[in-house]
Amino acid sequence: MKFFADTADIADIRELADTGLLDGVTTNPSLIKKSGRDIIEVTKEICSITDGPVSAEVVALDHDGMMREAEVLRRIADNVCIKVPLTIDGLKTCKKLTHDGTMVNVTLCFSANQALLAAKAGASFISPFVGRHDDNGFDGMALISDIRLIYDNYDFGTEILVASIRHPIHVLESAKIGADVATMPPAIIKGLFKHVLTDKGIEGFLKDWEATGQSIG
Ligand code: E4P
Repeated sequence: MKFFADTADIADIRELADTGLLDGVTTNPSLIKKSGRDIIEVTKEICSITDGPVSAEVVALDHDGMMREAEVLRRIADNVCIKVPLTIDGLKTCKKLTHDGTMVNVTLCFSANQALLAAKAGASFISPFVGRHDDNGFDGMALISDIRLIYDNYDFGTEILVASIRHPIHVLESAKIGADVATMPPAIIKGLFKHVLTDKGIEGFLKDWEATGQSIG
């Protein structure tokens, strides 16, 4: 499963890229606002840190406007992935962009039927928002299972990019279902490394090692 960082914070992205485990980045208008940076500048900087797909979202609601914004965004770097909302105009834009060889991430997906439409429109990625789904009394992980089943039934190449991840169990369940990508806030990615027994184990080994009086090398 690929790991994307769901952030526009450069320091966090650099730190995660240094682990060698970062496969891409997703941003959205709220994350750009949080960064306090210009969308073009910050996206360019992110694209210089990772070779993986970097999602940059259009804000126009009509097809022509989306195409105009996509033109600007895709000129930033070869690894920019244009993010469009799951609407009729969004999918029309998706179809046109992917036909031209541009990566497209269809965002704000909340049903398996929407995911089916995005795959038919040739989306590179579909982003079902599991956290927001759960928040509203739906079952986010059931949505991921349904999409996996449908995409496998028809051999769609669209990658399932699990978004709006709120905790490590979302990551675990996504991996068990066979989702292709999980995009996560940096704190959640870092949290995956942690286990209290790992820390305790290191502490115990170091204590015993000190008692041997040895050193390596
Ligand atoms: C996905 O690409 C979105 O940027 C993101 O995962 C939304 O997460 P949120 O529901 O925590 O805002």
